Amino acid sequence: MAKPKVKVLFVCLGNICRSPTAHGVFEKMVVDADLSDVIDVDSCGTAGYHVGSSPDSRSAAAAKQRGYDLSLQRARQFSATDFENFDFILTMDENNLSDVKSLQPLDHRKHVGLFLEFCSNASYREVPDPYYGGTRGFELVLDLVEDASKNLLAHIQKTL
Ligand code: 4NP
Repeated sequence: MAKPKVKVLFVCLGNICRSPTAHGVFEKMVVDADLSDVIDVDSCGTAGYHVGSSPDSRSAAAAKQRGYDLSLQRARQFSATDFENFDFILTMDENNLSDVKSLQPLDHRKHVGLFLEFCSNASYREVPDPYYGGTRGFELVLDLVEDASKNLLAHIQKTL
């Protein structure tokens, strides 16, 4: 029988900037590695302000410049049922992590942690929120997300 897919969920606050970027970048790496049959990718936000919205146009434009398509994504809110459905729940910052952990069942044994635990740039533990800043913030999100995504994919590939 086929092994179940490895399911990865990226979480930020609004699900319109950082986690959609991680979703789009990691998804492309999965496709390019010919692993779409093996790894599923999704993203969501801890807050519900932007449910149903497309990714922020600044995030989408910066991602498109590097060859990532975010256009089919729509924001949704994190829910406790996500603990049943995902093997890796990876948050962009500490606030997201504590919000997620506040809903975590006591017997939950899957990976819940900061996405940048997989990043080789030790100067950053969190993906800085670019929402209220300038263009450079969106490029930094991409830099950190690309680095961590490569290492996450290599980590998952070792378990396949
Ligand atoms: P994200 O960025 O969590 O990376 O999607 C934000 C998006 C929206 C807001 C804050 C952060 N907001 O306050 O509406």
